Amino acid sequence: MEAMKQDVKKVLFREEEIQARIEELGKQITKDYENAKSLLVIGILKGSCVFFADLIRKLDLPVEIEFMSVSSYQDSSVSSGEVKITKDVSASVAKRHVLFVEDIIDTGFTMSKVMEIFQERGAASVKLCSLLSKPDRRKVDIDIDYLGFTIPDEFVIGYGLDFAEKYRNLPYIGVLDESVYM
Ligand code: PRP
Repeated sequence: MEAMKQDVKKVLFREEEIQARIEELGKQITKDYENAKSLLVIGILKGSCVFFADLIRKLDLPVEIEFMSVSSYQDSSVSSGEVKITKDVSASVAKRHVLFVEDIIDTGFTMSKVMEIFQERGAASVKLCSLLSKPDRRKVDIDIDYLGFTIPDEFVIGYGLDFAEKYRNLPYIGVLDESVYM
């Protein structure tokens, strides 16, 4: 990881800290769904891929997995953003317990819209697990049922999170050095 180290201003969460938090989240989710017959865990590509892979291995439950791709357009002339599903799930979601897995909740637009869509599709329950949250950037109210860490409004990379599609493979979460984008 030497090639990318020079672009990291500081490390926010080390690998061990991330894994310890995921262990706790896994225990909590396992407990909360212990009476559910099955759980549909949906990862939102691409940022959640690393977190998703680690989290599902901490769930002591029968789970099915799915992935979705969503693009959001935020037009300042309208009060709410629009989301477009560019890759949808293949499973039927009616009467299923759905848990979305995200890397970060920023304005909240993406997941509030996606969760609304899944309520309309008749899911039995729709919950959200996000590794990170930036409350300073929030524009819509959203409940994050399971949250890894709250972070300040800084440009974070690594552990799935990118800048211009790079740094997703860093094993830790860091703040991107300004020299990279200034
Ligand atoms: C990020 C993140 C969320 C969304 C959060 O995805 O993974 O999906 O933005 O932002 P919001 O709360 O303001 O809606 P991004 O569009 O960067 O795609 P990526 O996961 O493929 O990197």
